[in-house]
Amino acid sequence: MSDAWDPEQYLRFAAERRQPFDDLRSMCMPVPGGRVVDLGCGTGELTAELHRSMGAAETLGVDRSEAMLAEAARFAKEVPGLRFELGDISEWRASGIDLIFANASLHWVPGHETLLARLRFSLAPGDQLAFQVPATFGHPSHVTAAAVAAEPQFAAGLGEQGDDPGAAVLSPARYAELLHSLGAVQQTARLQVYGHVLPSVESVVEWVRGSFLTPIRARLGEERFEAYLERYRERLLSELGQQRPYFYAFRRILGWARFS
Ligand SMILES: C[S@@+](CC[C@H](N)C(=O)[O-])C[C@H]1O[C@@H](n2cnc3c(N)ncnc32)[C@H](O)[C@@H]1O
Repeated sequence: MSDAWDPEQYLRFAAERRQPFDDLRSMCMPVPGGRVVDLGCGTGELTAELHRSMGAAETLGVDRSEAMLAEAARFAKEVPGLRFELGDISEWRASGIDLIFANASLHWVPGHETLLARLRFSLAPGDQLAFQVPATFGHPSHVTAAAVAAEPQFAAGLGEQGDDPGAAVLSPARYAELLHSLGAVQQTARLQVYGHVLPSVESVVEWVRGSFLTPIRARLGEERFEAYLERYRERLLSELGQQRPYFYAFRRILGWARFS
């Protein structure tokens, strides 16, 4: 599958998208002089902020999108101790890390029981794991996107869907159980609704296009994807009606733990 992440599209809602980052970061304890990894770091500006605010000596941003990492490269030049690397979360492991941080990325990797266990065993006593995943897959924005993908004119081109973020994400209670079973001595797992006041329902199309629709764009190719977007816009407008502004209630799960 080609790299469908489009940094410009993703950053159109940078102010809204950073709110859960700020909340997740505030759940973490600083690691002065320590080592931090930001999994699925994207365009890197938030990784740079994480690095500074945690007081880390070294922070590594890992992402599988070359387009996103190309944006991140300038922060590595500007900020001592910060670097970025191409890599896949589903295979990533390391040692000597004080904080593993993953904002809006783990939902792209299936099998969260196995994934969290692997991440936890990259950590030593006292180290932290923090993650934030969307939990908004029942919202019309996402239900409609899936319904359009299932329409015959698109389903044939999409084939077998490999990425299913909705299936990967567990409940807050299940994350709490998992973190406990992995030896968390302190933890938080919570659902939070971020209310975003967007100019109109069409803005939701632009929002979802920059994230949830990236695998669909990669599979369909540009021309078919434009037709898909047109159909998605039409169905979403008929589902929600035109609303100006539109209040987008976006559910997210935030998880943090410190281990024994
Ligand atoms: C929604 S963006 C979040 C970026 C950043 N963490 C932020 O908060 O702005 C998701 C990022 O995860 C990356 N990603 C998705 N699946 C991945 C995987 N299996 N391994 C590494 N990166 C992945 C994407 O390339 C994308 O840059």
